[in-house]
Amino acid sequence: MTVAALELRGLSKEFSLPGAGWFAPPQKIQAVRSVNLVVPKNAIVGLVGESGSGKTTTGMVALRLTEPTGGQILLDGADITRLPHGALKPHRRKMQVVFQDSYSALDPMFTLVRIVAQPLEIHGMGSAREREAQALDWLERVGLHRSYGNRYPHELSGGQRQRVAIARALILKPQVLIADEPTSALDVSVKAQIINLLQDLQAEMGLSILFISHDLSVVRSLTDTVAVMFNGRIVEQAPTEAIFADARHPYTVSLLDAIPAAHPRNRRLRTFRTRDELEAATPRLSAAELGQAPSPTPRLVEVAPGHLVEAILT
Ligand SMILES: Nc1ncnc2c1ncn2[C@@H]1O[C@H](COP(=O)(O)OP(=O)(O)OP(=O)(O)O)[C@@H](O)[C@H]1O
Ligand SMILES: [Mg+2]
Repeated sequence: MTVAALELRGLSKEFSLPGAGWFAPPQKIQAVRSVNLVVPKNAIVGLVGESGSGKTTTGMVALRLTEPTGGQILLDGADITRLPHGALKPHRRKMQVVFQDSYSALDPMFTLVRIVAQPLEIHGMGSAREREAQALDWLERVGLHRSYGNRYPHELSGGQRQRVAIARALILKPQVLIADEPTSALDVSVKAQIINLLQDLQAEMGLSILFISHDLSVVRSLTDTVAVMFNGRIVEQAPTEAIFADARHPYTVSLLDAIPAAHPRNRRLRTFRTRDELEAATPRLSAAELGQAPSPTPRLVEVAPGHLVEAILT
């Protein structure tokens, strides 16, 4: 069996917020509920779902930028869930992140060559001269002229800043890239350029990407597999074409319905559903037909090869 680049096993994250009054108990938010997700080597997995469904939290916990409250994170087969900071550092090199808003991640006082070279410096790799040479090479690789090395973040457009953020994330040659809405702040034409760049770099480097996005048309063109998140859980997961051609969970169907069709006549009616309605709409499948034990609590079952749906088994 091949080892996954990144595997989340039963991953959970509960946030505690202070209560509203002096004696009010703290408020608990279950942002991620027992998520199982595999990002195979050399593949792009999409993570979709409405705002607040827990996509960013899943990514942040996988990176251990937020600590999990349950479950395990395996990076290239190694369990990094409880590694202390020092022991985590060599693993950190293998997994990097690009956010939607790279501006806040790029130090405004640093030149671009310094920004891109910084991860090498943090990990004590190469001499100053070697790091600078590599950073200039990476600027070129992401489509910026080497002369940009002396510029500052404020001199760049949004698309150029995302290119710098990508160079900075990939200079350590990670195995896994978590891309959290990397194009959603960009204009359509620039968005397509950045998607093409990610696609090219993925193929060249054999990268594994967890691609978090609201944009289902981008997800469709870019990913191999899609996981659909609702209310902190993965409710459906399948090869990308199966998600778009054969969605089984009503929540996935309602997400797909929300994509505007090119021609109004082809636009399906958007069915509005509340969370409670959606919870109530959890598919019911025959346990006997699937050869499984009945399960009154919803769980993910495989309904076709690689196609998982959350269902109640009766
Ligand atoms: N630091 C935090 N403290 C408390 N609650 C949080 C924190 N971060 C996220 N949450 C809550 O966790 C839930 C999931 O949020 P998250 O940001 O992961 O969703 P998302 O799917 O990325 O949404 P979006 O599509 O808007 O980016 C939300 O209810 C959110 O309010
Ligand atoms: Mg988010």
